[in-house]
Amino acid sequence: MVMENIIFEEEDNLAIVTINRPKALNALNSETLIELDEVFSEIEKDNNIYAVILTGAGEKAFVAGADISEMKDMNVIEARQFGRLGNSIFRKIELLEKPVIAALNGFTLGGGCELALSCDIRIACSKAKFGQPEAGLGITPGFGGTQRLARLIGIGAAKELIFTGKMIDSNEAYRLGLVNKVVECDKLMEEAKAMAKTIASNAPVAVKLCKAAINRGVQMDIDTAVMYEAELFGECFATEDQKEGMEAFVQKRAKSFKNR
Ligand code: CAA
Repeated sequence: MVMENIIFEEEDNLAIVTINRPKALNALNSETLIELDEVFSEIEKDNNIYAVILTGAGEKAFVAGADISEMKDMNVIEARQFGRLGNSIFRKIELLEKPVIAALNGFTLGGGCELALSCDIRIACSKAKFGQPEAGLGITPGFGGTQRLARLIGIGAAKELIFTGKMIDSNEAYRLGLVNKVVECDKLMEEAKAMAKTIASNAPVAVKLCKAAINRGVQMDIDTAVMYEAELFGECFATEDQKEGMEAFVQKRAKSFKNR
């Protein structure tokens, strides 16, 4: 894969995806979105990748939003297509059958905040800043922000952030439940990798089904959702890793999962 704006690395069973457009604070233009789509398609197919970390290059920004220079002169049809492009990729990340941790190393604004919201877990560097400044540019959030932010932090807090367009710091983001934890900036990748490795040490099929159960279950009524959970729970018992996990427990030995 030759990519201009994305760096893809593999380390043990982890994939590390870095958005790399420092001249525009890693803003998402169409080219970067398409590369992001390609890289996540490859990750989906790779059975040796158990978890993904998504971060931004440099010390200043995770992603400072969708690219304003590219959007500036769009007409209605082009803007709608751009919104659909971003939304389809972010939905792909949300539905990826592997956990995705966003390591938020700086400005996480607009489309950048929306990208972080499509990940499963968010770890923020203490200097990161968050916001949905779109209304100040004369637009609505266009890559899922009005939907995922309200679902994650609640309607009232989401409306406040989106209507005011104000920027908040990491501690406020943590207080609102927008990020899972805040760490010193020089420890960010270490923390993200440690969490990813802990996740990857569990049975990958089980983690995949947990993600599906949570993501799909929260959209269902509770009766349907618990039946869906029971389906997935049952499915685990068709896997080698369930046998291995339980045998290892009973035999008081270390487990060795095979992602099968
Ligand atoms: N799009 C395009 N370029 C951007 C950008 C963006 N979202 N954010 C920053 N840049 C560019 C700047 O234009 C600048 O380029 P030049 O050096 O060529 O002038 C470079 O990155 C560095 O940025 P600044 O000089 O502005 O850096 P700063 O430290 O003074 O400010 C900032 C940092 C507060 C993040 C400021 O850059 C900023 O406000 N950026 C825009 C944030 C924003 O509004 N994001 C939402 C975009 S809309 C959106 O995302 C829609 C959607 O939901 C799909």
